[in-house]
Amino acid sequence: MKTTALILAAGKGKRMGGKIPKQYMELEGYPIIYYTIEVFQKSFIDEIIMVVGEGEKRYCEKEIVKKYGFNKVKKIVEGGKERYHSVYNGLKAIEKGGYVYIHDGARPFITEEILWNIQKEVEKNKACIVGVPVKDTIKLVSRENIVIDTPERKKLWQIQTPQVFEYSIIMEAYKKIIKEEDSTITDDAMVVEKMLGYPIKVVEGSYGNIKITTPDDIFVAKELMKSQGRE
Ligand code: CTP
Ligand code: MG
Repeated sequence: MKTTALILAAGKGKRMGGKIPKQYMELEGYPIIYYTIEVFQKSFIDEIIMVVGEGEKRYCEKEIVKKYGFNKVKKIVEGGKERYHSVYNGLKAIEKGGYVYIHDGARPFITEEILWNIQKEVEKNKACIVGVPVKDTIKLVSRENIVIDTPERKKLWQIQTPQVFEYSIIMEAYKKIIKEEDSTITDDAMVVEKMLGYPIKVVEGSYGNIKITTPDDIFVAKELMKSQGRE
């Protein structure tokens, strides 16, 4: 079956601050998005669709895709206001069928090993997401900062991307959510949970697969690069 990666790079990076969106910021000489796409380019994935911000298509084509020879990138489409709008725009650009790997452009430490592990699982269960067991205690807190509850840690997982689905499942779920305008959506699995109630399998990923979100993540990312001998 065909495998398509949707790489999301249409966010503005408000929490990072900075003059340019974080996915284009440089880390050890290359833009963050370069590292992300490189893993998919070198992997078993058949094709890549990039979702970028309004007016960024030409920049991305020239400065990322052409410059680094990412020939698996078949299309570059514009994203939308919220992440889930961007995902929907990307989904619409995919030719029917196969598996869809939805991945945050701001997660450059994804590895081919994780991609393989999730691929093996998605062949058995058509919806799989990557995550790691939570290390801290997590509390449910009210608006007034009063603790409401402490869920049992053993049952808590921190969810990352990629999130992988059979095409027909993710497309059906997104077609439904897009009509509803739901601002509580923060990942793709949530769309499938809410719209279809389809069982989603969590595949153990790695703690290093961080999303670069705030300035201190740049420091962590540099340390990770160093520890991998990639500085
Ligand atoms: N993203 C997107 N379209 C949006 C919002 C986010 O494609 N409308 C992408 C981002 O580019 C990023 C991933 O989704 O790769 C995860 O989002 P997040 O970390 O929240 O990035 P930003 O939205 O850019 O950051 P912030 O929320 O701080 O503004
Ligand atoms: Mg965001």
